[in-house]
Amino acid sequence: MTILDTIKKRRSIYNFKEVLVDTDILKEIFSFGSYAPSHYMKEPWNIMLYQEEGRQPFVNAIIESYQRIGMIKPDNEPKTLKMIESMKQFLLAIPHHAVIYFEREEDPVRYEEEYAAVCAFIQNSQLAAWEYGVGMLWTITPYMHDPEFYEAIELDAKRVKIAAVLQIGYPKAIPRDKGRTSIEEKMKIIDT
Ligand SMILES: Cc1cc2nc3c(=O)[nH]c(=O)nc-3n(C[C@H](O)[C@H](O)[C@H](O)COP(=O)(O)O)c2cc1C
Repeated sequence: MTILDTIKKRRSIYNFKEVLVDTDILKEIFSFGSYAPSHYMKEPWNIMLYQEEGRQPFVNAIIESYQRIGMIKPDNEPKTLKMIESMKQFLLAIPHHAVIYFEREEDPVRYEEEYAAVCAFIQNSQLAAWEYGVGMLWTITPYMHDPEFYEAIELDAKRVKIAAVLQIGYPKAIPRDKGRTSIEEKMKIIDT
């Protein structure tokens, strides 16, 4: 596929085959991701990749965070336990979870630069993944703003910021192309 085809054909993937993507392929994908531009060549992205048994404590940390935040009740009622179980099964059916994070910058301009570069890294990685037949879902979720979640996965919330969590695997189904708004509606040309 040409890069232009890949840009248009890539879709966010919500259902994954329960098959691992080879670590070397994932390394290749993120290596392509790292050709993203970054100011001062900071290459601010970092990845924590959870797979196989490593997903268990990660998923537990997510559930505990949801309980702290109030998205799941912090009780042992049968309804709550059922909800926790189905959420665990849903998350554990995803072969890989990649936490993408970067060092926080005090200066807001630098902070934006780092975040922007990390987003470019993520999109490059999604496009590279598509070339390998690998699907991703870029997620931003409430637990990414919970300092105790950071602690649970051994990240220092004061020092680093989670930009996204990518769900990764071979697609079970590819959603339809929703199309895009015509660029003319988004673009103003000022030439006089
Ligand atoms: C910054 C960002 C955050 C996103 N967060 C979520 C999310 O939390 N959950 C989700 O289902 N999709 C999420 N998405 C995926 C979008 O829903 C998806 O890109 C959009 O619907 C367009 O679909 P496509 O990627 O297949 O073209 C996110 C995308 C971006 C760029």
